[in-house]
Amino acid sequence: MDVIEAVKARRSIRAFKPDPVPMGIIKEILEIAVRSPSANNTQPWEFAVLTGAALDDVRKANLDAFNKRTPFDPGIPLPDVKWGEPYRGRQLELGIALFRLLGIPKDDFPAKVAWAEKGLRFFDAPATILICVDDSNKDTVYIFDSGAVAQTIALVALHFGLGTCIQRHVTNYQEAIRKNLGLPASKRIIIAVSLGYPDEASPLFKFRSTREPVDSVTTWFGFD
Ligand SMILES: Cc1cc2nc3c(=O)[nH]c(=O)nc-3n(C[C@H](O)[C@H](O)[C@H](O)COP(=O)(O)O)c2cc1C
Repeated sequence: MDVIEAVKARRSIRAFKPDPVPMGIIKEILEIAVRSPSANNTQPWEFAVLTGAALDDVRKANLDAFNKRTPFDPGIPLPDVKWGEPYRGRQLELGIALFRLLGIPKDDFPAKVAWAEKGLRFFDAPATILICVDDSNKDTVYIFDSGAVAQTIALVALHFGLGTCIQRHVTNYQEAIRKNLGLPASKRIIIAVSLGYPDEASPLFKFRSTREPVDSVTTWFGFD
């Protein structure tokens, strides 16, 4: 798969087959993905790769925290932002499209909670990669670097027939996750990339999110 095909083919996968992903494949993905750029080549990322019982324990920890209404404790500061337009509209469009595919009516609150819980279970992916950054790194550009490596992981995973979902929601109870895994308090969990073999039978499999046309987000200078 060439790079253009990969970028066009990548999309968030939220339904996986239970088949395990071999450790060797994930290691190969990470070995390639660490070629991602980072500010001043600081390579701030560290990876915690979870599968099997370790991942199941973290799913449970996330659900416990959610059901106990534990206050959010994300790795990236989460300001209490009310999204205005055009961002709110795009977010709503995504939610409406996903709920329609899942057959969840607008006012079915329990079904929406169940979907949120599925997200907190890493969409039942057989593996997930937590991208962490040590607290000693104070330059907020680590958020950009983490995004670069997350996208590279998602693209390289395609080469191995794997689907991915970059997930922020799952990192909202990072203290509970750290405790579960025995990770030091200094490791901020920035984002997760869940991965596995896509469940092609799921109604979600064919879903394609929309994009704004490039012309509406681009201003050209000096071309004429
Ligand atoms: C930083 C970041 C955080 C995300 N967090 C979540 C998440 O918590 N749950 C989820 O289902 N998708 C999450 N996504 C996936 C986005 O919803 C998805 O990338 C977007 O809707 C575009 O769709 P596509 O990935 O299928 O192209 C996240 C993506 C990014 C880049």
